[in-house]
Amino acid sequence: MQNATSHFSKPHHPPHRCPWWIGWALVSPLRRLREKPEVLLAPLIQPGQRILEIGPGMGFFTTTLAERVGDQGRVVCVDVQPQMLSGLRKRLRRRGLDARVETRVCTATDLGIADLSGSIDVAILIHVLHEMADPRSALKSIASALKPRGRVLLIEPRGHVKSEQFEAELAIAGEFGLVDTHPPVETPNRLTRLLTMVALSTDDAGTTPRVK
Ligand SMILES: C[S@@+](CC[C@H](N)C(=O)[O-])C[C@H]1O[C@@H](n2cnc3c(N)ncnc32)[C@H](O)[C@@H]1O
Repeated sequence: MQNATSHFSKPHHPPHRCPWWIGWALVSPLRRLREKPEVLLAPLIQPGQRILEIGPGMGFFTTTLAERVGDQGRVVCVDVQPQMLSGLRKRLRRRGLDARVETRVCTATDLGIADLSGSIDVAILIHVLHEMADPRSALKSIASALKPRGRVLLIEPRGHVKSEQFEAELAIAGEFGLVDTHPPVETPNRLTRLLTMVALSTDDAGTTPRVK
C-alpha cells in the first residue's frame, strides 16, 4: 500500500492544470445540477468570518462564500491563473460582492499567503489540490494561515483523483496538524473531508509532529 511519501515521490510530472478558458464552463448554471454551493457551504461559513479559497477559478463557490460572510467578513482568493481571477472579479462586480473579496495571483510553488498567518477561519480547496505541483508546501502554508481550530474543506473530483491519492493528500495535511474530524460525506462524484487544525507537539528529538 502506498503512503503519503511514496505517492508524491514518483518522478516529477507537473500535474494537469485546468485551462483558464474552462473557467467559464465551470461557472455554468448547469453545474448546479451536480453541485450546489449553498448546500455544501452553508453549514460551514458564518457571517463575519475570514475565508481563504485556493484555486477559485471564476468563482462557482466564491459568490456563495461572499454572500455568507456578509459585510463584516472577507474572502481571500488565490489562483495561479490571472485569467481565472479576472473572470471571478467580473462575476463578483455584477453581483455587488467585489468589496468582500480580495484576489491574489500566486506562483505554482508559492501561494503567497504568509501575511495571513493565524487569521483564517476556514480554507476552501475544491477540485484544486491534485493540480498543484507541490501539495505539501501548499498545505503547510494553508495550515499556517488558519486560526487554532480553523477548518479546511477539501474536495477532490473522483474522476481525476483516485482514493489512494486522496488518502495521501490527507496524510500530508495531518503532518501539519489538519485532522479529519467529521464523518466523510460520500457522494458519487466527489471525495470530501472537513479537516480541523489542532495543536501539534513534537517528540523528544523535536522531529516528529504529534497531535496533542
Ligand atoms: C478545476 S479548477 C476548479 C475551480 C473551482 N474551485 C471550481 O470548483 O469551480 C482548478 C483551479 O485551481 C487553480 N490552480 C491550479 N494550480 C494552482 C496552484 N498551484 N495554486 C493556486 N491555484 C491553482 C486553477 O488555475 C483553477 O482555477
